[in-house]
Amino acid sequence: MVVRRGGSLEGRIASSEITPHEAFLNRRSFVAGAAALGVGALALRQVPGLIHSGAVHAQQKLATVASKYNVPDAQTPFAKATTYNNYYEFGTDKSDPAKNAHTLQTRPWTVEVSGLVKKKQTIDIDTMMKYRPMESRVYRHRCVEAWSMVIPWDGYSLGEFISAMDPLPSAKYVQFLSDDSNKDMPDKPGGFNWPYSEGLRMDEAMNPLCLLTFGCYGEALPNQNGAPVRVVSPWKYGFKNGKSIVKIVFTDKQPHTLWNDMAANEYGFYSNVNPNVDHPRWSQAHERRIDSSTFPRTVPTLMFNGYGDQVASLYTGMDLKKNF
Ligand code: MTE
Repeated sequence: MVVRRGGSLEGRIASSEITPHEAFLNRRSFVAGAAALGVGALALRQVPGLIHSGAVHAQQKLATVASKYNVPDAQTPFAKATTYNNYYEFGTDKSDPAKNAHTLQTRPWTVEVSGLVKKKQTIDIDTMMKYRPMESRVYRHRCVEAWSMVIPWDGYSLGEFISAMDPLPSAKYVQFLSDDSNKDMPDKPGGFNWPYSEGLRMDEAMNPLCLLTFGCYGEALPNQNGAPVRVVSPWKYGFKNGKSIVKIVFTDKQPHTLWNDMAANEYGFYSNVNPNVDHPRWSQAHERRIDSSTFPRTVPTLMFNGYGDQVASLYTGMDLKKNF
């Protein structure tokens, strides 16, 4: 297993760019910090809220560069991708998050990086967003519930961020914890082991396909899609992709994950898209593709969601029926 760590100083987040949490609450030091970073190069344009196709657009347009990681499949319309969501903290119906997630306050927002890492850090979301040029990547997005979408996500490879964080060689996994504050999510349903927790093996997280995601469709993520930052690992079922992340923890043990806690026989740690391993309650051989067609189409599910060339080698020698 090859995990790229540390590397040259060039391109890493210098400690001077990572200010303590309190500093981010101080508008003046944030502005000064942003100027020092030269963030103009990746200017984020504020536009008034727009309404189109019945869905509310986020307010922030993102500057992105083209990516080589695009699938040619027909894209899901913005209005569908932002109104048919799984974000249980805001309700369990697909339409709930779009109605309820307006209570999520995404600024100020910090992400704490801790565990097996050289230095624990708390990083402001705006610093995180500007660390690397964002790419727009059109990915297949396969939910474990056997529906799928095709979404242009905006972000940069998670591995680039991880390298800058200098995890220790003993770090074998990385855990992502979502926001669960009562202020932001006053009506979280009971019976779940909040906060939402997900994790990846380190080499999975370092795979360039794994996207630290700040936007979709060229705009900052709408709250219901996981603002201000989420993970997207396109060869895995969608539940691996925690939304609204506030903590990243490096660990030597496989971290607990919310859905695995709920039903370990249904939601494994790996959760690679696999048409040959059915969910105990339904087949995973096909999926309902929600794209620009008028009605969802049934299409065959692809091994690793069609990303086998890039990720199959991560699992050489593993029994993927046991490690579902
Ligand atoms: N993250 C949090 N914090 N809470 C959630 O309920 N749902 C997961 C994942 N991330 C979820 C989450 C599931 S089941 C899926 S399929 C995807 O988010 C859905 O992402 P989308 O709504 O942007 O399509």
